[in-house]
Amino acid sequence: MLTECFIGFLVIALTKWIYDRLTRKRCTVPGPYGLPLIGNIHQIGKSPFPLLEKWRKTYGDVYKINLAMSDVVVVHGEAIYEVLVTKGDDYAGRPPSERFRLINDYQDILSRSADAQLKDYRKIAHQGLRQYGTGFDRIEQISMDEIQDCVERFDRDDSFDPYEDMYLTVANIALIMLMGERFDKNDDMFKLTLKVDRDAVRVFGIDCAYMDILPWTINIPHESGRLLKEGLVNVNTLKELCFDKTKKTFDGDNIRGVFDAIFKEQERRKNTDQPLSDAAFKGISVNLILAAILTTSTALKSMIAYLLDYPDIQEKLHNEIDDAIGERIPTLDDRKRTPYMEAFILESLRYMSHIPFAIPHETMVDVTLKGYFIPKGTQVWTNLFSLHHDERYFPDPWTFKPDRFLDDAGELIPTDQRKLLMPFGAGRRVCVGEQMARVRIFLFMTTMLQRYEFLPEKPGCLPKYDPRDSILGAPMKMKDYKIRVKKRD
Ligand code: HEM
Repeated sequence: MLTECFIGFLVIALTKWIYDRLTRKRCTVPGPYGLPLIGNIHQIGKSPFPLLEKWRKTYGDVYKINLAMSDVVVVHGEAIYEVLVTKGDDYAGRPPSERFRLINDYQDILSRSADAQLKDYRKIAHQGLRQYGTGFDRIEQISMDEIQDCVERFDRDDSFDPYEDMYLTVANIALIMLMGERFDKNDDMFKLTLKVDRDAVRVFGIDCAYMDILPWTINIPHESGRLLKEGLVNVNTLKELCFDKTKKTFDGDNIRGVFDAIFKEQERRKNTDQPLSDAAFKGISVNLILAAILTTSTALKSMIAYLLDYPDIQEKLHNEIDDAIGERIPTLDDRKRTPYMEAFILESLRYMSHIPFAIPHETMVDVTLKGYFIPKGTQVWTNLFSLHHDERYFPDPWTFKPDRFLDDAGELIPTDQRKLLMPFGAGRRVCVGEQMARVRIFLFMTTMLQRYEFLPEKPGCLPKYDPRDSILGAPMKMKDYKIRVKKRD
């Protein structure tokens, strides 16, 4: 059976290769040679950063690798700004992905190529998030209740791993904003959400990536195939649960969260020439759940780690909070009065760059980048990780320095001077939840630092937070660590 599958694959692959050679306009971007059929797949391991950097030095900011006969153009440096922003429309596609096709047949935001439908889905998600997520009074109230709970849980004398508590806080805030409901830790819906969210690191990480290129491998019994299949079943159950729960309990006069807002829009559009399908509702809602929890809790995990290694930075943050906020509950308005905290958050997002390649893009038309021709339909990776550690734009990139985002007066430098910092992507496909993430991070870090001093588990026992040691995934996973906390007077 395996031999037949393999021969079948070889025949299909060879035919595709010959067909491509004969019919396709050629991508003129240079790049490393790979092996026949598999290209450079065998070289892209679980920690590809040093290799990608080596290739950048050899071929320049734009080079091409080959993944099983498909060209992937990898972009670095300032050219990323051109791809995402200046010529963002030309690169706004998403490459086909078997994993996403199986999840929702591209009826969602994350995996859909740029078209009128995507524009509509993004608009619907934005409207919902603005009204019921980042709408200021609501987000403050929801976040603060949950964060205060976490503050209480941190109040202990022993050393502990802070991640689980932060993760639960972020998950609860997200679910309240999205579904309008706080879930108990033992609720089935909550447990399933966490399972899907955690599995997503592997299902959408490097472990299962080859199944996009070789979809037939999903059905060969092996660990990653089993993981993907199980992940798909769970995502589907979650989608159905979100939809059924919203539909059954919907009350047009009492919109409880983002999903209600999307459902209301779906109802409004019934019998119009622009209906919103059930599949789209499910796709958008599962995107928001998946993207909202792990990304933000990973960011918080890295931020606490930096505080342990840089007590001087922690002290500056304490002083700023004491001066600008004192003992009252922090509000979002305080962001204006706490530039050092804002700079700390920006520097953390730069240093960790935990969504290292954004999400793969695809050219919508034939394009020319840095003088090279790239045909329509070519996959493009924006190497944000490399950009954020590029000496040309962020001097001394492996030193953690919030001050790089402050001017001489201690104020945040203007946005146009930090436009190459793009942890949320930029332009046409910029992260839909950027504001929601920034708001939660600000309120969490400010409240925690107002109350506590964070200390390493034992003197000198510091977390390993260098992102080059993290496990590649979306988001990258940093090693676990323990902390102690000391209440501030
Ligand atoms: C620290 C937290 C977060 C980071 C660093 C982050 C980063 C990113 C990045 C780099 C992209 C890809 C942009 C591209 O393809 O060029 C993205 C896309 C996306 N993010 Fe986030 N994100 C975060 C939190 C969130 C939250 C809280 C939500 C939802 C509530 C969210 C929803 C999305 C969605 C739906 C997309 C797909 C956009 C599209 O394909 O058009 N993200 N995010």
